Amino acid sequence: MTSAGQEPSAVAPDLRSNIDDEDSPASAERRLESARDIRQRIIGLVEDYVAASQREEGPFVPGRTPVRYAGRVYDEREVTNLVNASLDFWLTEGRYSAMLEKALAQFVGVGFCRLVNSGSSANLAAFSSLTSARLGERRVQRGDEVITLAAGFPTTVAPIVQHGAVPVFVDANPRTANVDITQLEEAFSSRTRAVMFAHTLGNPFDIDAVLTFCRRHDLWLVEDNCDALGSRYTTQLGDAPDTRYTGTFGDLATSSFYPPHHMTTGEGGAVYTDSEELDDIAASFRDWGRDCYCKSGKDNTCGIRFEHQLGELPFGYDHKYTYSHFGYNLKMTDLQASIGLAQIAKVADFGAARRRNFAYLRENLAHLGEVFDFTEATPRSDPSWFGFLATVREDAPFTRGDIVSYLEGHRVQTRMLFAGNLVRHPCFDEMRERKSGYRVIGDLPVTDRLMERAFWVGVYPGMGIEHLDYMIEQFIACCDSFGVH
Ligand SMILES: Cc1ncc(COP(=O)(O)O)c(C=O)c1O
Repeated sequence: MTSAGQEPSAVAPDLRSNIDDEDSPASAERRLESARDIRQRIIGLVEDYVAASQREEGPFVPGRTPVRYAGRVYDEREVTNLVNASLDFWLTEGRYSAMLEKALAQFVGVGFCRLVNSGSSANLAAFSSLTSARLGERRVQRGDEVITLAAGFPTTVAPIVQHGAVPVFVDANPRTANVDITQLEEAFSSRTRAVMFAHTLGNPFDIDAVLTFCRRHDLWLVEDNCDALGSRYTTQLGDAPDTRYTGTFGDLATSSFYPPHHMTTGEGGAVYTDSEELDDIAASFRDWGRDCYCKSGKDNTCGIRFEHQLGELPFGYDHKYTYSHFGYNLKMTDLQASIGLAQIAKVADFGAARRRNFAYLRENLAHLGEVFDFTEATPRSDPSWFGFLATVREDAPFTRGDIVSYLEGHRVQTRMLFAGNLVRHPCFDEMRERKSGYRVIGDLPVTDRLMERAFWVGVYPGMGIEHLDYMIEQFIACCDSFGVH
């Protein structure tokens, strides 16, 4: 029987623990060999299966094969990793999680990374970290304000509300669909403590403007990088221009690994930072709020497990069960991490494909600029695009509904810009009625326009030229039918 609490080696699969203690060394060795052989055979079969099943998918048939907005892109490496992780049967955070945290931190260019079970959990862990009493005067408290974008995804904002802080919504810039930086100063008040923005559809927000604002007022910055892993931005705030990946500019940043995103683990996400203190706090919120930082299956990493005196607990109370935060359990399993480890090795290539696909659509739809406004990259950015956003102009002879139903009717998937205008959703009904709990800067006209007129189509790496050409044909055919050529 496999012994509980024993961590498998990061190099060779842990098969020794399957061996009965009473076995002689020779028979144990034989059994070990045979388990290794079986694993090898399983992995070989899995490789064959993935190759065969992917061949079965067949060629693209225009009008019949769906052109998806996004999807998993994988080969045998993801599946063999997953099968290996399942044969390890470690299940919770383990060797694959450790490797993925390291690989992700290295890829992004940050010191610390924690895996979590979704991008929403990443946002929750990141924002919760800012509320920690360990941060003293700088912590975000109930009633403090956090500046964020109204055109976005709900779980960028949910943690702010859940912690009793007040989201202050600014409008979007019509060209980038990202934060309108001219509203930042107006949004600031004596209660402002933090700024939390997503890089919309992979397009970095104006990082230099936001960082300058944050530094001027001593505010935390959380980058919701869920849609932008691999996007680059060149900051000019230092002595020389410095190009880095998004996720390295804020105090904390987050990723989502839900299948449409730049890499996938099924469900999954990550929180990353350069601050050891914030990393410790994020880990505590992720892991039940505990003070202890032992990895799953480990005891006494601190070496003084029974020698702490914290809170009003008796001296020596087990550090493993000592809680410094009101936390959650947001951990990723090793099964998910094993998939992510194969994916992270491909993220740079995925990003190149996203950029190529976006540029191809942009170039071949450019002549439709009189009916659509197409999103532009933020100055000094190089987005790893999540999608291709188009806004139907007011003077176009058709509506968003017309083009979206034409595309969908021809098997081209479309998506709205997530929540559109967040404050118009039913989750705000109660706060709207009592006129408290959030603030809005101006009337959010650009956000409303995005809500009413914008939609996006895919650029994900699973698309080939045939998908893109077909999609372009459908855009053109729809416009043709309304007399736009
Ligand atoms: C900007 C943004 N933040 C957060 C999330 C939440 O990620 P998840 O679906 O993994 O919870 C998403 C999801 O797509 C997103 O687009």
